[in-house]
Amino acid sequence: MTPLIEVRGLCFRYEDGTAALRGVDFRLDPGETVVLFGPNGSGKTTFVLHLNGLLSGEGTVRVCGLPVDKRNIPEIRRKVGIVFQDSDSQLFMPTVLEDVAFGLLNRGFDRAAAISRAQAALATVGMSAAASRAPYHLSAGEKKRVAVAGIVAMEPEVLVLDEPTASLDPPGQRSLAELVSHLPQAKILVTHDIPFALALCQRAVFFQGGVIAAEGTVEDIVSRFDWDFSFGGSKLRH
Ligand SMILES: Nc1ncnc2c1ncn2[C@@H]1O[C@H](COP(=O)(O)OP(=O)(O)OP(=O)(O)O)[C@@H](O)[C@H]1O
Ligand SMILES: [Mg+2]
Repeated sequence: MTPLIEVRGLCFRYEDGTAALRGVDFRLDPGETVVLFGPNGSGKTTFVLHLNGLLSGEGTVRVCGLPVDKRNIPEIRRKVGIVFQDSDSQLFMPTVLEDVAFGLLNRGFDRAAAISRAQAALATVGMSAAASRAPYHLSAGEKKRVAVAGIVAMEPEVLVLDEPTASLDPPGQRSLAELVSHLPQAKILVTHDIPFALALCQRAVFFQGGVIAAEGTVEDIVSRFDWDFSFGGSKLRH
């Protein structure tokens, strides 16, 4: 079986000299949902930005067998949809509806079809009422939902969500988990939200200092790295 994503020996250094990735090996198979855990600054966002060619380091990244290089970028970007950690870098059109339709229009959908697909995607994330509002006036959680709609509307084969629940209220987190669990794609979720990962992911990898230090089930990785709030939580209650 060809993996959807196969990464070997990926290394990346930012211009200021920060070595953010130091030899990452990773694989995503069809139908899988994998969570990327790891401390702040461990390289998770840098890693996912390599999956559709937004960053390019040393080593190999393949999507459905295709190397991520200049020649294949348009096809790779159709296959891998990334919802960025920072919604402001994703939303730039004057209205929410135009923002969600933007990628579809860019891909050659006619206007009516793009608008109707964008409206359906906004309904999926519970943001239909905001269709004519300006994205930059929305709250952080509302922006996140609109950014998710923009990617879901494109129907990619692999969905990458970088900290999708970070600014959502608890019911919003639940509804996003519900929404994501019903999407048919293979998924990579970057999150510090353990209930969200437990609900959705069959496998967890743990980033540390720019490498994947371990992988296993979500429960395994959480207990191995003491990666939850339970100890602090119980102390705080007393
Ligand atoms: N544009 C940049 N220029 C220089 N260094 C950067 C840049 N972006 C990230 N870094 C550095 O690269 C390393 C990895 O950062 P990255 O954003 O990938 O971490 P992360 O695991 O996503 O963290 P978080 O959990 O906080 O989102 C960090 O040391 C960070 O300071
Ligand atoms: Mg990050």
